[in-house]
Amino acid sequence: MYDFHFDTKKKILKDQENFLIFVKKLLPRWLNGIPDSECLAIFRILQKRKKRKNTVALETGCGASTLALFLHCCLNKTKFFSWDTNGSKGSYLRTIINESICQPLNVNVNDVWSFIPYYSTDKYAGIQILKELNLKSDFGFFDSSHTLSQVKSEIREFEKISSNEFYIALDDAYYNKKNVNFTFLNIIRTKLKLKRVKEPLNNICLPFYEEVQKYLSSKYKKVLKVDDYYKKNFNKDDWFNYYKEVKDFGISSYDKKFSKKDFSSKKSKMFHRFDAFLVKK
Ligand SMILES: C[S@@+](CC[C@H](N)C(=O)[O-])C[C@H]1O[C@@H](n2cnc3c(N)ncnc32)[C@H](O)[C@@H]1O
Repeated sequence: MYDFHFDTKKKILKDQENFLIFVKKLLPRWLNGIPDSECLAIFRILQKRKKRKNTVALETGCGASTLALFLHCCLNKTKFFSWDTNGSKGSYLRTIINESICQPLNVNVNDVWSFIPYYSTDKYAGIQILKELNLKSDFGFFDSSHTLSQVKSEIREFEKISSNEFYIALDDAYYNKKNVNFTFLNIIRTKLKLKRVKEPLNNICLPFYEEVQKYLSSKYKKVLKVDDYYKKNFNKDDWFNYYKEVKDFGISSYDKKFSKKDFSSKKSKMFHRFDAFLVKK
């Protein structure tokens, strides 16, 4: 079902980014959680990784991002780990990856990818198990529950197993929810025809990209902002057309009360949907 023919292995190796987007477009919407330009931004950063022994990449929250990690790792003969509490997502993705990427490239999905259907920060099955496996990580993409407390907990776990130089990449980096993701909760409540709940002011923090940069800069010698592919390309990304009501910048049906005059602020927020940092210890 997902073994659509892109081209020969030779052509795939030559045209890696178009192949990645070709496979991404096969995903059902519920697995395709990031824009194409963000997926390519992740892939390009991954391709800059240096070859290091016993060093893996990782992500929290699987989906389209998993394809970028998978293609990079299988092209570079390395491995990665994903944590997601939704086991069905991992299982479904494994089928898609197997049919769409592994078959034409002749690789075994399990040699490249370990999926852990559990909490990313768990003491016994979360990110820190990499220590027990004698592995380090030089790349983390964090896209789980979108609160600052969760992102920071994941980064703290990542720091325990990070190599001397590492990339930290964030989805929805413009979010400013400290402890509770009221946007997501209100989506659920709206579907249940329950009244929206008002977000208390003390749940608001600086946008994640600022909070995370501040945190990293307080701990490490060098924290460099990555000049990423997403920022130069999100404006013309047709992934945002999923949101039909208003085509630009992902204004969804949940944001109907969003007035057009708020558009420019939404646009500047979308600029920071994806952010990444290179950190040197
Ligand atoms: C926004 S989606 C990820 C999108 C994905 N990166 C993509 O590219 O399509 C967030 C995922 O994080 C998972 N999640 C939420 N909280 C989590 C946690 N504490 N540990 C692991 N996964 C979590 C959810 O099950 C959900 O599948």
